Order: sequence, then C-alpha cells, then structure tokens
Amino acid sequence: MKNDCTTTKAIRHTIAAVAAMLIATPLLAADKVDFGKDLYPILKDRCLTCHAATYTDAKKGRVKKPKGGLRLDTPEWIQKGYEDDDGIVHQVVVPGKPDDSEFYTLTTLDPDHDDIMPAKGDPLTQAQQGLIKAWIAQGAEYGGFQAPEYINPKAK
Ligand code: HEC
Repeated sequence: MKNDCTTTKAIRHTIAAVAAMLIATPLLAADKVDFGKDLYPILKDRCLTCHAATYTDAKKGRVKKPKGGLRLDTPEWIQKGYEDDDGIVHQVVVPGKPDDSEFYTLTTLDPDHDDIMPAKGDPLTQAQQGLIKAWIAQGAEYGGFQAPEYINPKAK
C-alpha cells in the first residue's frame, strides 16, 4: 500500500513536470526580442533623425525639435511618449498590447497613408515590424539598455 502511494506520487510529479514543460515550450520557442540588440539599431537607422534631442542644422542653421514632440532615443524618452495640442500625454508603447501602441501601429499603415512611420523613405520591412510587435507583446522590456548619446548627422 505504501509503495503504491509512493508510485502514485511519483507519477503525479512526473505528470506535473511534463505539463510544465509543455506549457513552457512555446514561450521558449518564440525568441525573446532584445531591445538593445534587435530594436535600437532599427530606431537609430530609421527613426532618430526625426525623433531625438533638439539640434541645430549645420547647413540651414535652423533649430530642429523632435517631430511630433516625441523622442525615441532612450528607453526613458520612449516611455514618456508625447503630449498632444491639448496637453494630454499619449503613451506610444503599451506593454503587452502592440495593437494599442502607435510605436508599432504607425509603422504598419498603408505606405500611402499620411501618418505612416518612418515619415520618409521605405516602410520598415515585415521582419522589422515583426520584431517591434513581438517586443511589445513580450512586455516591452529594455533589459537595462543604456542608450549611447545620439547626435543627428546634420547637427553642427
Ligand atoms: C522624416 C521624419 C520622421 C521619421 C524618420 C520618423 N518620424 Fe515619426 N513622426 C514624424 C512627424 C512629422 C510626426 C508628427 C506627425 C503629426 O503630428 O501629425 C511623427 C509622429 C510620430 C508618432 C506619433 C507622435 C505624435 O506626436 O503624433 C510616433 C509614435 C512616431 N512618429 C513613431 C516613429 C517611429 C517608430 C519611427 C521609426 C520607425 C519614426 N516615427 C520615424 C516624423 C518622422
């Protein structure tokens, strides 16, 4: 009787362990997006010329503010979002909800749409859009990323 009990316990443990593995596997299978390694290079390449600190254009001598009042050059700025004309603050990243995050949705608009981001040049590739979507769906974590100082190539 005692043996049976032990066996039943052992079987239960095994079932629990297998079940836990089955639940965990799909999470492991979906690669975790690394903000610094996977996303920052895309931002640097396609977003920061318009969405970083105010600078003075070397050729025109004009002061250029971040477009739409939005900076995307550090995790802190991304998390601040932007203020609209009525002073209401909008988050551009809603962790876990890519479809509520303009940081993602504006990049997937029709290429002819007025609001598509980036506002200039080719749309992001589907792979780049997919990385942004997955990163937000996975909780939009920055993994302690320390952004290097971004200097606009047109700055003097
Ligand atoms: C060539 C300049 C330019 C580039 C590059 C650019 N944007 Fe923008 N972005 C703008 C402008 C201009 C606005 C403001 C649009 C408006 O107010 O109607 C804006 C607005 C936004 C907004 C909404 C904030 C607001 O004030 O309406 C988000 C989110 C955004 N951009 C994300 C991005 C992302 C992500 C990238 C890179 C993938 C990017 N942008 C690249 C020019 C740019």
